[in-house]
Amino acid sequence: SDMLTPRRPLAGRHAIVTSGPTHEAIDPVRYLANRSSGRQGHAIAQALAEAGARVTLISGPVALPDPPGVTTRHVVSAREMHDAVRAALPAEIAVMCAAVADWHVEPQARKLKKTGVAPTLTLVENPDILADIAHHPARPELVIGFAAETETLLDHAAAKRIRKGCDWILANHVGAGSDVMGGNDNEIVLITQAGADVWPRMSKTEVAARLTSRIIEALK
Ligand code: CTP
Ligand code: CA
Repeated sequence: SDMLTPRRPLAGRHAIVTSGPTHEAIDPVRYLANRSSGRQGHAIAQALAEAGARVTLISGPVALPDPPGVTTRHVVSAREMHDAVRAALPAEIAVMCAAVADWHVEPQARKLKKTGVAPTLTLVENPDILADIAHHPARPELVIGFAAETETLLDHAAAKRIRKGCDWILANHVGAGSDVMGGNDNEIVLITQAGADVWPRMSKTEVAARLTSRIIEALK
């Protein structure tokens, strides 16, 4: 590459990336979780590292190897992920890609037994890691979230960007007729203060590369 396109444009920057689901214990043998392979978050962590950033990846339980060149911290629950993200600050970049469980369950020390009467689970809301980091005194310069929506994608995602106080939201359409979850490809609309940018369907690796380019531009 020439002098105008340095090979490691994010050198000297620290990026925190969350990826994968969280698991919330119901009892010692059962858990509540979101559907997430971690493929998109892991690809973003790797792309940022390849661009020269120091990357801390906070990963929930996934069946993926740790990406090369990335410091990976393994967590299980949303509250552990929250603590690990806070402990990783300060950073210039935060990309919250994890499918965080919205609730945890009041813990049961012993395995629930079938009695003929189904038990009632009491759910307690988890901390919103993205919103917390976006309002933190050590807020990264660029805070980026994801929004997986099944309906009125643009309205919901734009509202989510404002509500959470993040800079960008990568919105993707999931649910009936979509093969995004667990698949190789992603369909993204990047929502910024300036509006919505519809990306063509591309692989999760290509999404990671394109997002990294946008991050490099924004931090110039
Ligand atoms: N997120 C987070 N902590 C949570 C929940 C979500 O950091 N407890 C982050 C996700 O990693 C994602 C973004 O917030 O980047 C949006 O997640 P989403 O589930 O779409 O948003 P919610 O506010 O939980 O809204 P919803 O009711 O639609 O689930
Ligand atoms: Ca949620």
